[in-house]
Amino acid sequence: MKTILMNRNQYNVLLILIMVLCFLGCVTNKKSGSQMEVMKEISVDQRVDSLLAKMTLEEKVGQMNLYNGFWDVTGPTPQGGSAKLKYEHLKKGWVGAMLNIRGVENVKEVQRIAVEETRLGIPLLIGFDVIHGYKTLSPIPLAESASWDLEAIRNSARVAATEASAAGINWTFAPMVDISRDPRWGRVMEGGGEDPYLGSKIAKARVLGFQGNDLTKNNTIAACAKHFAAYGFSEAGKEYNTVDIGTSTLYNTVLPPFKAAADSGVKTFMNSFNELNGVPVTGSEFLQRDILKGAWDFDGFVVSDWASINEIIFWGHAKDKRQAAIIAARAGSDLDMEGHVYIQELVQLVQEGVVQESIIDDAVRRILKVKFELGLFDNPYTYCDETNEKENIGHTKHHEAVLDVAKKSIVLLKNQGNLLPLQKEGQKIALIGPLAADKNSPLGSWRIASDDHTAVSVLEGMQQYTGNTLTHHKGVELVVGNTAFIEEVQINTTNRTGIDEAVAAAQTVDVVVMVLGEHGFQSGEGRSRTHLDLPGLQQELLEAVYAVNQNIVLVLNNGRPLAIEWATEHIPAIVEGWQLGTQSGNAIAQVLYGDYNPSGKLPMTFPRNVGQIPIYYNYKSTGRPVDTNDNVFWSHYTDVDNTPLYPFGHGLSYTTFQYSNFKVHGTEFKIGDTIKVTVDVTNTGDYDGKEVVQLYIRDLFGSITRPVRELKGFELVSLKKGETKTIEFKLSNKELGFFNNQGEYIVEAGDFEVFVGGSSITSLQSSFTLK
Ligand code: BGC
Repeated sequence: MKTILMNRNQYNVLLILIMVLCFLGCVTNKKSGSQMEVMKEISVDQRVDSLLAKMTLEEKVGQMNLYNGFWDVTGPTPQGGSAKLKYEHLKKGWVGAMLNIRGVENVKEVQRIAVEETRLGIPLLIGFDVIHGYKTLSPIPLAESASWDLEAIRNSARVAATEASAAGINWTFAPMVDISRDPRWGRVMEGGGEDPYLGSKIAKARVLGFQGNDLTKNNTIAACAKHFAAYGFSEAGKEYNTVDIGTSTLYNTVLPPFKAAADSGVKTFMNSFNELNGVPVTGSEFLQRDILKGAWDFDGFVVSDWASINEIIFWGHAKDKRQAAIIAARAGSDLDMEGHVYIQELVQLVQEGVVQESIIDDAVRRILKVKFELGLFDNPYTYCDETNEKENIGHTKHHEAVLDVAKKSIVLLKNQGNLLPLQKEGQKIALIGPLAADKNSPLGSWRIASDDHTAVSVLEGMQQYTGNTLTHHKGVELVVGNTAFIEEVQINTTNRTGIDEAVAAAQTVDVVVMVLGEHGFQSGEGRSRTHLDLPGLQQELLEAVYAVNQNIVLVLNNGRPLAIEWATEHIPAIVEGWQLGTQSGNAIAQVLYGDYNPSGKLPMTFPRNVGQIPIYYNYKSTGRPVDTNDNVFWSHYTDVDNTPLYPFGHGLSYTTFQYSNFKVHGTEFKIGDTIKVTVDVTNTGDYDGKEVVQLYIRDLFGSITRPVRELKGFELVSLKKGETKTIEFKLSNKELGFFNNQGEYIVEAGDFEVFVGGSSITSLQSSFTLK
């Protein structure tokens, strides 16, 4: 934007002129071209201030009110929020944003009321959970994170934004950047896994994908880093539960991906349902004012989670809505999502002098700023273009893009005897399992705008390969009755019809491909589980088939790490196929047949059993890390190994990679130096392939104890058969320090170990000293 130089008097005259023009514009809602030009020359902050100066208290509080639309519901049905009341409030200018309104026609209608029927004509933010796509779905975010392919992840968010924006949406409630170490928690499907370094890179990629580099374009939308903060540490993995964690975990593990999102320019944050160390976070001044808006200088706004201002009452932190409003507003929750608390309480609270109007002004400024940045004041209907809607949603190029990221998200967990890839001809294959022909589960849980049963199933994907004889047998039902986003899933535990037929089929074939795992609605919000084995009768089916044919390729479809110890011991080939979205079956088939050589790596540890949880790669040593005296007095379980079933960073390929010439270039460094680390990676197998080369450090002694390993670098490298590449990493203060218990980032002198390899348990090791 051009800068205009002017003296103070000229500036004041111009400001008055603009205010008059703006007033006229808002009243008539018809801005002339030249008037718009003048407006655009003024900074967003000036435009916000001039609008704020015209607003009544009611209109300001109205901007802090976010209503759910009239159809989809993504939380408990609110009390007292009838459609009639919402329309009335909309017309009065008492609504700042809406969620779950989609489709140009619908969005246009509410936007029209806001812009053309209210006194000031302030446009609405239209929010939606565009979590891994709109209509054309990418893999669930946890799966995508397994690609470690930041470009692919960014592109997937771009596709999501392109489709959602074409449907009138200008704000997504994503990315979720909650780190979690607990696969019992159903929402791990929505995040980047357990590691703050990987999680931060992914947070950035997703924010940039959604927001692009020009937010005023009609295919970029405002992103929302959620859920701030520590929601992923809910006790016992139980949804909406208490979180009680120490300062070190908060600063070193939970906050980094949020900071990365803020640094990448994310426009909004969403707070969370949990309490943190005794304070419901929606009412946490420490998180929202001190850290986010204070230390981090975040100038966007914070939206509450669905009715979470209300929930401060149920936490036992406020006695009624009035007190909840006081706490949340003071704490810096700017926008009330479907809580009806601010709209009912705040005006009076300000009039009584209990809540300062400056708090309201600050919140409204932040909200208006995002609306200006989206270009909504220049054209409130910028996202409401029917042609764009018709042409973009479900476009073939989006199917290609989500297929690409789906293939990259698949993780080859085990491949004994190179059972995979499958031969393309002359084989008899039985495809067995309740998820084999399922076109619904691969869509995952967050797929409100997508049509049910529209994913390509594994059966359909495999049918593309016609050189083999393929038969299909469901084996057993996974669920009973209908499934829906808001309902509990009923799992079949009694009906064994189909097992015998599947076993008979397995007896006569060369290879059995079994597709087992979780139904799409078994993970996601409100979907915590205490058993992480194969649900229902699937384990029984697996063992029955194994008894007659051990040549089994197990394809898992699931939204979280599973505890599949028996399968790992017995089944020769296991493919983690997650919930891969619209193109799921094609992606899986291409991997099974070797048209795509898998390169995914686990973003989250797979436990042997639920009792090991939380289990994560970057744990602390403890004071008794190993058995030195052959007795029980060391940190372990008596009934299961300390190691995970599959570690963080694990994932195989159809080829093999050899690491050599691992070098830390120097042995002693000063704090502030940049340390060069190099390693040669060679493709030693029979296929071209990709490897995620991972770099970990261990700070051996710290004023705050340090994890046994911490990921500090990775590179996704493509290698042709026989090819060698030298990979270089740099370690500097950014990688070598940590947050102390005062929340300060420090780098300490001391001895460090460095590890490089294809997973977090790599043994290739070197060291250096920081003086
Ligand atoms: C979820 C949020 C979501 C919101 C709106 C809440 O229940 O926790 O992640 O964005 O609903 O659908």
